Amino acid sequence: MLATTNTLLINGIEAVPVKVEVDIQNGLPNFELIGLAQAALKEARERVKAALKNSGYEFPNRKIIVNLAPADLKKEGSHFDLAIALGILLASGQINAVYTENLFFAGELSLDGSLRQVPGILPMSLALMGTGKDARFIVPAANCREAGLVHETRSLAAGSLQEVIAWLEGSELLEPVSDERIEDFTDSDVAPDFAEVKGQESAKRALQVAAAGLHNVLLIGPPGGGKTMLARRMPSIMPDMTREEILETTRIYSVAGLLNAEHPLISVRPFRAPHKNASSASIIGGGRIPRPGEISLAQNGVLFLDEFTEFNRDVLEALRQPLEDKLVTIARSQATCTYPANFSLVASCNPCPCGFYGSDLECTCTPPQIQKYLGRISGPLLDRMDLHVEVPRVIFEQLRTNSSSESSASLREKVLQSREIQLNRFARHKFKLNSQMRPADVKRFCRLDEASEALLKNAFDRLKMSARAYDRILKVARTIADLDNSLDIKIQHLAEAMQYRSLDRKYWHN
Ligand SMILES: Nc1ncnc2c1ncn2[C@@H]1O[C@H](COP(=O)(O)OP(=O)(O)OP(=O)(O)O)[C@@H](O)[C@H]1O
Ligand SMILES: [Mg+2]
Ligand SMILES: [Zn+2]
Repeated sequence: MLATTNTLLINGIEAVPVKVEVDIQNGLPNFELIGLAQAALKEARERVKAALKNSGYEFPNRKIIVNLAPADLKKEGSHFDLAIALGILLASGQINAVYTENLFFAGELSLDGSLRQVPGILPMSLALMGTGKDARFIVPAANCREAGLVHETRSLAAGSLQEVIAWLEGSELLEPVSDERIEDFTDSDVAPDFAEVKGQESAKRALQVAAAGLHNVLLIGPPGGGKTMLARRMPSIMPDMTREEILETTRIYSVAGLLNAEHPLISVRPFRAPHKNASSASIIGGGRIPRPGEISLAQNGVLFLDEFTEFNRDVLEALRQPLEDKLVTIARSQATCTYPANFSLVASCNPCPCGFYGSDLECTCTPPQIQKYLGRISGPLLDRMDLHVEVPRVIFEQLRTNSSSESSASLREKVLQSREIQLNRFARHKFKLNSQMRPADVKRFCRLDEASEALLKNAFDRLKMSARAYDRILKVARTIADLDNSLDIKIQHLAEAMQYRSLDRKYWHN
């Protein structure tokens, strides 16, 4: 006999409906999963077998074929269990259901038949909302709050396979998922404040510019100057996330399986600080079952790479494409998937192995050592760091002073104002920030007067700048003008933006 149930698959951060067709024939006992079912999914066989038996049903000792359609998309994850188990029960006539047409099931089965939390429920609910059908979505009870974020999809929560069966057969009801309001999720995390950082005014200013336009920053300097301290304070000057940003970021965490059952919302700007020894898959994304990496988990927030030069060379090079495209494409056999990756990269490093090159203390490194050390940041990667800032050692008097240094609240005020300006400027565009402008947008929104044009041309020729660096300088200049509430990019705005590129010469091209 043949039976069909519905579920969805995850591709990148999108979900697509999938039909689970189960056919049971007489023949040698066999359980086959077809339709580009990946190895990990094949573990479903064992879970479904045990769950059926432990829920008081029979696992048919016949020839079972489970086909997942459409066949051309890879199926991965454990949430197919529930739809497969129900298909087997229907096809073997062990249960009767009047109606299964618009019912979508997602859930991983434990061996005892209870349902476990699964990744991807938010994108699945959003996809069902878009189908226009009168769909109902049956999710594990542990995913209930996440499903509740999408009010338009009618969802029901179940604790076990048996509860779902009782509901299908009409003998019991399932708990309807109640609507969750984004506003009701509060977060009490308080980011550390810039007021605690003494001196380092120019580094603070650069981080303010970066926060305003979501640009990338490279902090370079001797040990103990406060680079790590500064970077960790970046989120404190960024605006609160908009509703749209919250959902966009939460979707990524959902797919990554990183949402908390009780608090399934990323409402605070991400600040991700992976360790320098982290693998390429964990930073860029991918893996056997593809997962978003740190660059995607930092969506709409900050990716902090401390001790930048000590990251794996392959990881550093793999950053180049996402830094340019604001998304990452992961190629795999027979398929690719794409994750968003729009973040501000804050990187920090020492200028040499001993740490003191270019400072007031003596550097004990040889020129080849220094070259090798800084050379780990390749030219094209350095090009993508919009603002290069020196963080010198703080002098004793600065540390001892009681005079207060600028607080996060004060730095943030201007950031908010400049975001307003950007929102208005790009109101009719898909993107919202200066760093996201494409070359044509740069031409249109970053016009220079004659004197500025001449200044930039001169630097371009003299420093043998790349076209990319040229565009990036203009975008930063645009942000600096916005922070100054100026409609035009004036020469002082451009000069400041260019000055953030001057460290190339001191450390790299000497
Ligand atoms: N500008 C500063 N104002 C106040 N305290 C500072 C400052 N710079 C450094 N410190 C103190 O020194 C500690 C070390 O600073 P931090 O770790 O940020 O330095 P770093 O530049 O990252 O050094 P490294 O190159 O060794 O990683 C801080 O925790 C803080 O206590
Ligand atoms: Mg540090
Ligand atoms: Zn040195």
